[in-house]
Amino acid sequence: MRIPCIVAIDGPAASGKSTLAEKLADFLGYLYFDTGVMYRAVTLAALRELDTLDEAMVTGLAERIDIDVRPPSVQDGRKYDVLMNGEDVTWQIRCPEVDANVSQVSAYPGVRRAMTAQQRRIGQRGRVVMVGRDIGTVVLPEADLKIYLDASVEERARRRYLEVQQRGENISYQSILSSMKKRDQIDSTREVAPLRPADDAVILNSDGVTAEEVLEQVKALLADC
Ligand code: DC
Repeated sequence: MRIPCIVAIDGPAASGKSTLAEKLADFLGYLYFDTGVMYRAVTLAALRELDTLDEAMVTGLAERIDIDVRPPSVQDGRKYDVLMNGEDVTWQIRCPEVDANVSQVSAYPGVRRAMTAQQRRIGQRGRVVMVGRDIGTVVLPEADLKIYLDASVEERARRRYLEVQQRGENISYQSILSSMKKRDQIDSTREVAPLRPADDAVILNSDGVTAEEVLEQVKALLADC
């Protein structure tokens, strides 16, 4: 068995990518890097600092912003700290306003250019499990193992609904479902780096499958690398 040095995990929102990546990174002793947090941080900054999501202005912001992901400093259920220009925004980047606008922001080519460059720098160091929408296709096409984890939109919305309920937030299942459908549509039809499996990705589906079972499927794939 040749252990892959770079593992790319892509797929739509709430398909179980992050849980899988975190467990796999733990198992391999690798860095777990969730690239979605970078697009979320840019979106949060834009919502706070600009009164518009104008492409040129948001791109300028993405080029200036300092985003850092570090080991968790607080035990409140977080897996890592997300720092935006030094400020801890770990939970703010998960708010409904960011959810509603992040697909638009992440479709801007200039924003993607700025984020992709940073992601490649981190990924090329190796020993990394990187999660996103375009890791296997654009960010790290040289990855040794590429997984595309899918699930039905109803199942994904149900998972997200349980998560927000656990955080004590009051958002209906229907609104989560419709916002997720909208994001899927924008993410998979944008011109630059749309959400799609790489030609050499292994496609898995997490509908009705536990996180442990998905992990076992991936561990079995490691043996074939
Ligand atoms: O995985 P997530 O829900 O945190 O991602 C937030 C948004 O960022 C999502 O709408 C798609 C976008 N994204 C992207 O375009 N490319 C990535 N590599 C990661 C996320």
